[in-house]
Parts: sequence; structure tokens; C-alpha cells
Amino acid sequence: MPADLPLSSDVPLDAFNTFRIPARARRYLRVTDPAQLARVAADPQLAALPRLVLGGGSNLLIAHDEVDALVLHMGLAGKDIVGETPDAILVRARAGENWHGFVEWTLAQGLGGLENMALIPGTVGASPIQNIGAYGAEVKDCFHALTVFDFATGTTRTMDAAACRFGYRDSVFKHAEGRALVVLDVTFALPRAWTPNLRYAELAQAVQGIAAPTPRQVADAVIAIRRRKLPDPAEIGNAGSFFKNPVVSRDHCATLLATWPDLVHHAQPDGSEKLAAGWLIDRCGWKGKHLGRAGVYPKQALVLVNNGGATGAEIMALARAIQDDVEARFGVRLEPEPVLV
Ligand code: EPU
Repeated sequence: MPADLPLSSDVPLDAFNTFRIPARARRYLRVTDPAQLARVAADPQLAALPRLVLGGGSNLLIAHDEVDALVLHMGLAGKDIVGETPDAILVRARAGENWHGFVEWTLAQGLGGLENMALIPGTVGASPIQNIGAYGAEVKDCFHALTVFDFATGTTRTMDAAACRFGYRDSVFKHAEGRALVVLDVTFALPRAWTPNLRYAELAQAVQGIAAPTPRQVADAVIAIRRRKLPDPAEIGNAGSFFKNPVVSRDHCATLLATWPDLVHHAQPDGSEKLAAGWLIDRCGWKGKHLGRAGVYPKQALVLVNNGGATGAEIMALARAIQDDVEARFGVRLEPEPVLV
């Protein structure tokens, strides 16, 4: 095993996952230099281990007491303005940078574009994995390119948006073809001619009184909404939305509307309908309820919380009970949003 790699064994992960699940990692490496990944890839024993790439641990549910893998905890730091195009300023952050810290930094540089995604927990490196989004914006909207280390080839390369195959809370990195890839840094193109994105009604309402809102003012409004609705992982263990908003056919939606006229749904460009999972869970009576030490956040039914000392298995049991109820009532199976380990 490479003597120059600061590898550890049996490392507690409670502090590294926002659900605060008390799991342990069999092998653990804090990655502070991309060259460390090349050394892992070149070592036959280490390269053969299953890997878990860990950013802020805010979109993760560890279902077992032991993570039988090599945990690569991304600690690559640094952010900079790296160039420009006729329309945009290019900013790059390395994978371990805190996402919200990065958004704040872009705002401090006078750059708009990421403000609707202020206060999302996690790291910059994790942001393209599930194409994070909030209040009418997604990472893919301002994405320029990213750099990956590829464990399959032992090399580093650049990927553009097309190669990342972004979808709703989805990208190539969540699929088999992307499993060998580790994001090292992400570059964003922030528009020179910024206009506020106020597609999300509640956000538009929040800045209504401001004649020409600045990126900073939009960010502040987003932060206020999030603080009102979503639990702070520093206080209550959670991983944000636990389920994706499900997409159903127009016919299925019409059938549901006949019984539930107040069903929250949004027509998609392809004619299908996206339903608000929070609404479905809420209507099943789960909001504020709990199963053992796992609970449903009282202000937003889409967020599962650790009410203190819950195991991953307890959270999963609650998730399954909710999936079963929603399926029985509405005929749609909710899909978890976090990565299940
Ligand atoms: N609703 C209820 N009851 C609830 C929760 C929601 O009736 O308990 C209704 C709301 O009244 C609203 C609708 O459901 O009409 C949608 O709720 P909301 O606007 O809060 O957004 P969401 O669809 O529940 C999504 C994202 C969030 C993101 C918000 C705002 C997903 C899975 N979640 O939630 O992202 O912050 O929109 O854009 O797409 C995350 O991914 O971790 C996350 C927090």
C-alpha cells in the first residue's frame, strides 16, 4: 500500500453525513490533492476496493453500520475567476469547496447566476452529480465544464454539459457509465447580462417590493424561504428532499385530479406531469409523524429527519412506509433522491 497516502481504517462517519447516521468506513482517505487518486488507482489492492466518493454528505443515506468501501472524502480546496467568454465570466471551484460558501463568493465578486441555489447544503463537487436545483434554477443552467479523474483509465479529463447528461436531479455520474469518475473541479459560466430568475412564485413574491432586485437581494430572499421551510442539518439530521418529484402520464394525472382537485402538478415539455411529492406525502397524513427515531419534517413533508440517534435502517423503514402509502393511494412509487449506501 502506498506509504505516502494518509489512509485510515474504521473511521466514524457521523460528522460527515448530514443525516448523522453513526456508520464507520472500513478504509478512509481525505483527498487534498488529485495526485492521491492516481496513486490509489495505481495500487492494485486499493483500486480493487469498492469506492464511495464523499462530499458534504448531504445527499446520502448510509443504511448500514459499516461502509465496506474505500471512502474518498473530497477536500480539494480553491476557487477563482478563470476566464471569460463574450457573454459570461468563468469561475472555477475545486470539488471540496462548500457550495453555499462558493455561491456567497460569486456574489461578493458581483456575479449573479447561482443566487437561486443559495444555502443548498453540500460541496461544489457534488453539485453536478444530482444536478442540484432550487427555486427554478439548476446547476446545468450555469454549467460550463468540469474535470474528472477516471479510475477506469487512471487519467484526468474535461467534460462538457452534453457529456454530463444532466436531467432532473440526475447526471451520467449517477449511472453505471459514470461510476469510475470522480469530479475534481467545476467551472461555471456566470452571465454578464444578469436578469433575476423569478419563475418560482414564492420567490417572485418575496422580492415584489424591490424595483430592480440584485443577485444579492434574490439570494437573501432564497435564504429566508429556505430557513422558513427546511431544517438546518446542523440542528436536525436530514438530507434535504428525500424523494424526487415523480413524473406521471397526463392520463394518470387527470384521474388523480378527478378525486383530488388540489393536487399540485406541473406539465412537462413532453406532455407528462410532474407531481409534488411533498403534497402526496402530506395528503397521506405523514407530515410531522415519525416511525421510531425517524420522522417527517413538520414544515415540509418531502424532508425526512433524524430525530436523534436514528440508524440508516430506521430512516429506510420510514421511507418504505411512505412509499407504500403513496403508492396505494396515488398509484405512483416515489423514488429516493439521496444516494443510498
Ligand atoms: N407541499 C405540500 N405539503 C408539503 C410540502 C409541499 O402540500 O408538506 C406542496 C407545496 O405547497 C407546493 C408543492 O408541494 O405546492 C411543492 O413544494 P415546494 O415548493 O416546497 O417544493 P418541492 O417540490 O417540495 C423542490 C425541490 C427542493 C427545492 C424546492 C424549491 C425536489 C425533490 N425538491 O421541492 O429541493 O428546494 O423544490 O425549488 O425537486 C432538495 O432537492 O433537497 C431540495 C430541497
